[in-house]
Amino acid sequence: MDQLKDIIRNIPDFPKKGIVFKDITTLLADAKSFHRMVDLLAHRYVGEKIDQIVGIEARGFILGSALAYKLGTGITLVRKPGKLPYKTRSISYELEYGTDTLEIHEDAFKKGDKVIIADDLLATGGTMAAVVDLVEQFGAEIHECAFMAELEFLEGRSKLPEGKVYSLLKF
Ligand code: PRP
Ligand code: ADE
Repeated sequence: MDQLKDIIRNIPDFPKKGIVFKDITTLLADAKSFHRMVDLLAHRYVGEKIDQIVGIEARGFILGSALAYKLGTGITLVRKPGKLPYKTRSISYELEYGTDTLEIHEDAFKKGDKVIIADDLLATGGTMAAVVDLVEQFGAEIHECAFMAELEFLEGRSKLPEGKVYSLLKF
């Protein structure tokens, strides 16, 4: 796990002064690290009868689609405003470095669908908390929120459903 952590690059003062940005592009670009990361996360959910993966734009699409492929599910996209073509539900939230809005198609899930929400990184938890709220509006069951990495000092998991958060790499 340390090898996977070490390949993530720190970029100080990006995108704003005072933020140390975890650059996962280095992990994604390295074949062994990328495959290991996806395999480790997917292994956790084999046999759980997951109906759908939810991927959060943009970096969450990468892990989300890899997980969906491995688990034999589809992926539902949560996107930034104005990108989804059909009728949407939307939610606004605070980020470590600003505010944002996310949207999902209004026919995204059936009541009781068992879903995993995937994103690259858990920081303050604002993004994932907003998506949890959106998904719960459909009456879908959140099996887990899955992340490649977590910035533990920001305590983002305190905003998320207890016992339903998993991150592979902790910083
Ligand atoms: C980043 C990251 C997570 C979110 C985590 O997304 O990919 O989605 O921030 O931060 P939080 O836990 O404080 O909410 P960003 O909005 O920068 O978008 P991107 O994936 O399109 O780069
Ligand atoms: N998203 C929110 N905070 C971040 C950080 N420090 N590094 C990478 N992605 C982030």
